Amino acid sequence: MTARGAVASPPDARVNPLREESVTLHAADPCTFIVFGASGDLTHRKLIPALFRLSKRRLLHPRTAIVGFARREFTDQAFREEMKKAVESGEASSAEWDRFAETLHYVPGVFEDHAAFRALGQLLSELEAKRGIPGNRIFYFATPPAAYAPLIRNIGATGLARRAIREERGVPWARVIIEKPFGHDLESARELNALVHTVFAESQIFRIDHYLGKETVQNILVFRLGNGIFEPLWNNRYVEQVQITVAESVGIEGRAAYFESSGIARDIFQNHMMQLLTLTAMEPPVRFEADPVRDEKVKVLRSIRPLSPEDVAKKTVRGQYAAGAVGGSAAPAYREEPGVDPRSEVETYLAARLKIDNWRWSGVPFFLRTGKRLAKRATEIAIVFRKPPYALFRHAGLAEIGANILRLRIQPDEGISLSFGAKSPGQTLHLDPVEMDFFYLTAFGHDPPEAYERLLLDCNLGDSTLFARHDEVELAWELTDSIRAAWGSAGPPLAKYPSGSWGPKEADEMIHRSGHHWYRL
Ligand code: BG6
Repeated sequence: MTARGAVASPPDARVNPLREESVTLHAADPCTFIVFGASGDLTHRKLIPALFRLSKRRLLHPRTAIVGFARREFTDQAFREEMKKAVESGEASSAEWDRFAETLHYVPGVFEDHAAFRALGQLLSELEAKRGIPGNRIFYFATPPAAYAPLIRNIGATGLARRAIREERGVPWARVIIEKPFGHDLESARELNALVHTVFAESQIFRIDHYLGKETVQNILVFRLGNGIFEPLWNNRYVEQVQITVAESVGIEGRAAYFESSGIARDIFQNHMMQLLTLTAMEPPVRFEADPVRDEKVKVLRSIRPLSPEDVAKKTVRGQYAAGAVGGSAAPAYREEPGVDPRSEVETYLAARLKIDNWRWSGVPFFLRTGKRLAKRATEIAIVFRKPPYALFRHAGLAEIGANILRLRIQPDEGISLSFGAKSPGQTLHLDPVEMDFFYLTAFGHDPPEAYERLLLDCNLGDSTLFARHDEVELAWELTDSIRAAWGSAGPPLAKYPSGSWGPKEADEMIHRSGHHWYRL
């Protein structure tokens, strides 16, 4: 996270894209993006549209090149045509597309094929000479995880990433962006870390979690630390509990093979939820730079109280969606989804109660829940503050005082709201809950940009603050593994919930046992 994210600007400068361009153009080096898995879904849906938008906003260096690599037989021309379809219609008809398309190239090949990597190396050298790129390379693994190992080995064996490890001006650099899931458990994540470290130094490795590219996620820290009034309250003296929800209304969207081997614990809890949790709970870093920020996140992960199998049985809930209706349309059960085992025990919902054993958070429960096919799409962090002493209001005959809740709305309706009680007008003393609301759209005049744009640009700039470090990923797996292992033995049993609901009743019971309830989104 660079300081530019934290600087408050006058409103007119904030909506002026040229301002950002002038800041970043000086810093972004010309480089070649090499996209492995270039015929796949991620490249179509996210990478090429993001690179195109960066190019349109002049945030990529004009000498940038993009090389696709995948099994399909494309010529450069056919690849450009294919990528044009990937860019939103209306966006692609301009001269800007032609300028962008001319940077696109393609090499067909399988990831295990040494010869194809030599052909790739040859093309990279030619392009670098022709376009005046000083040899800087970003390798992007937009492939299924099984391809990561052969890719790393072949990049290493063919010397494609043989570049300066410590970055120095004028010396070409190489970086690698690796998509999630990074491993499927602690052991495989360790193995993958060890393998990638044989070719790349940690400073060259960018493990992507696209949640970190979301403006609202970056804003968690800026909001906490850039305002004088919140951080003093951000601790167990004032906060009673924290609830983090990642709710999706969609099901598994045709990804049965992946989801059957992943479940929501690996798909969302281990990565996106852990990012939200660590950013919410971490201590202020000494600087907004990669290592100071990630050091503090790692400390949070190390402070999470380990869960014994008995704890897992009591403090976690695993659920799976049954048939129901989402947004008025009938939705099938998970087990009826095409490609899913009709007796599948894979979870599509997870709720957990965690404790963070440090001075700031001791005694404050963190309730986490994530699920597919829930009532609506909503990602939110709710900081629930302790209630004021009741005595004063008891004498006035007031039944109850509600808690102040600060809601960080990650998506949709990106923004922040603070609820508090106000005296409703009238003769009698009556407190009604009211809200102060901030919406990105109305405050800044546009929705926040796509996460991938920010992350691709940060990698180009060599800033890994918004990427996960090796120890962070491993610690998140350690927690996730402990939960999954206990599920395999002591339970809890798989709970069913109707599609379109807010999850299994067992999740309500779990939170009620600690005297709380889920706040509605
Ligand atoms: C991905 C998961 O990482 O994140 C998906 O694999 C999930 O299952 C997606 O739907 C959610 O991302 P977003 O940006 O739509 O919240």
